[in-house]
Amino acid sequence: MPTVQIGDLPLAYRDEGSGEPMLLVHAFPLSGAMWERQIMAFAGRRRVIAPDLRGFGATPLGAEAVSMDRYADDLAGLLDALGIGEATLVGLSMGGYIAFAFLRRHRARLAGLILADTRPQADTPEGRDGREANARLVLAQGTSVLADKMLPGLLAPGASDAVKAEVRGLIEANRPEGVAAALRAMAARPDSTDLLPTIAVPTLVLVGSEDGLTPPPVARAMADLIPGSGFAEIAGAGHLSNLEQPEAFNIALRELLR
Ligand code: MLT
Repeated sequence: MPTVQIGDLPLAYRDEGSGEPMLLVHAFPLSGAMWERQIMAFAGRRRVIAPDLRGFGATPLGAEAVSMDRYADDLAGLLDALGIGEATLVGLSMGGYIAFAFLRRHRARLAGLILADTRPQADTPEGRDGREANARLVLAQGTSVLADKMLPGLLAPGASDAVKAEVRGLIEANRPEGVAAALRAMAARPDSTDLLPTIAVPTLVLVGSEDGLTPPPVARAMADLIPGSGFAEIAGAGHLSNLEQPEAFNIALRELLR
């Protein structure tokens, strides 16, 4: 994978196709590889960029403190390095939390926004405690223990063994330090609800009909606060809707891009 230098960090990314740029921001605790089916579907008519966020996949954690703002600044740095002014940002789950940070810090660089399987709310106190417990668990015992714990919540009950194996493989390929840093960064993220009415680019909210982590009513309520936004439920998908039902996800995405 190519890398660009963000400070002292070599940020790894995929960059396929040509046309209007689309920046795909991955979920926790996965990597840019979760977007394989979107890269294949859209690179024929778009420039599709899919980074591994710091601490995930082929990108090292680096020395700087991790936060949603830091991830968002890394994305802006990646666009700078690639000579891209504006892009349509597609953020799934943690990728959506990062999209909110990107909106706060780099709004002028957004041409459009897809918020998939995500929520604007900050964590509850119990949620933060759970993140810290998971950070300690992953640092002590590694990523496969976290995969065991998270897989049932990430996927629809009917997910195929192939999808389960793919997601497990993506989780287990990550380094515990990167995963723990992301957990602590998500726990510290602010509430973004106030931001929603200020979104002024074409926006689509997508959610798996069986997403138990950011369920359809949460996604619908978020869409209702974003002026003129579209909303689509991906039938039969859980939280990782792009990976579980890629065709339906891509059709919905194509509609917005059109
Ligand atoms: C994700 O898919 O990115 C995570 O489930 C987000 C979270 O844990 O809040």
